[in-house]
Amino acid sequence: MNIAGALAVDVREGLTRNDLKELSPKYLYDARGSDLFDQITGLPEYYPTRCERAILNRHAPEIVTGMAELVELGSGMASKTRALLYAMAGNGVLRRYVPFDVDPWVIERTAEELTELYPGLEVEGVVGDFTADLSDIPASGSPRLVALLGGTIGNLGPGERAPFLTSVRELLAGDDRFLLGTDLVKDVAVLEAAYNDSAGLTAEFNRNMLRVLNRELGADFDPDAFDHVAFFDRDQSWIEMRLRARGEQSVSIPGADLEIELADGEDIRTEVSTKFTLEALARELAGAGLELKQFFTDPEGLFGVSLCGLRAAGCNLH
Ligand code: SAH
Ligand code: AVI
Repeated sequence: MNIAGALAVDVREGLTRNDLKELSPKYLYDARGSDLFDQITGLPEYYPTRCERAILNRHAPEIVTGMAELVELGSGMASKTRALLYAMAGNGVLRRYVPFDVDPWVIERTAEELTELYPGLEVEGVVGDFTADLSDIPASGSPRLVALLGGTIGNLGPGERAPFLTSVRELLAGDDRFLLGTDLVKDVAVLEAAYNDSAGLTAEFNRNMLRVLNRELGADFDPDAFDHVAFFDRDQSWIEMRLRARGEQSVSIPGADLEIELADGEDIRTEVSTKFTLEALARELAGAGLELKQFFTDPEGLFGVSLCGLRAAGCNLH
């Protein structure tokens, strides 16, 4: 099913729940949502991008050793990716970059920018959902690095992460590597400030989901009638982002063949953003047959970057 078809199905399922209503965070990203996220990455409160960029700038040469191709899942504006591509070009083995994202706008933009920056670099963008469409990634004969940066894996729930990591493992062969950026557990005030910025950009990013539904499904949400809510749930170890109805609302969503009533103060969950410990991360990776080979962090231990390979097959001696 294409992304537009999936949207209608997901919206019907998520907004007809009797308990907490929910929409997938992948629908936050159209051209406006990607641009808002890009602005968020420059906010003083939003530490993950700064920390991950510093880690990649410092360790890119050792991370890319032996790699000739970079496949980046959820590539977005690919701003930190440049450190990896630069290090690969420095090693003289940069053959292909495959940005993979649900938002076609960012794929077009990065393909244009990076082809200009690295003449001769083959850029083969793929538009798709990384939880469903990894088989659309072109085959490769070269050693490749598959990356998922930014902490985006934390936007999947635990039940989605296990099959996702297994499908990433199935993409790897031989000495291929998987590079995974994860946000780490820390002081709650620091976490909550990152999702409640004083400029109100995260609130606008959150409300953008309703604008996407209005445009794609002909819905009549009034985005300004929803409050942005973001808080840390210690039990789940995630930041939860919600939209809270200000006053009772009747919404029509013709593209999903749906009419809904929202009570005053009723929430729609729009994102979870999981924060990991190294132990929890290593356990999840091992569960998917991935071996954590190196773990890099920033001096304050706010963000982690894991370099993983295939776990050596066990030897069954009888
Ligand atoms: N990697 C960049 C961007 C992170 S924002 C960074 O680290 O700054 C998350 C990106 O993942 C967005 O570009 C969004 O469009 C994309 N994305 C979110 N869910 C996705 C999904 N299910 N499949 C493919 N891309 C997805
Ligand atoms: C893309 N993802 C890792 C971001 C995060 O921090 O979970 C999305 C985001 N949501 C609110 N601010 C940023």
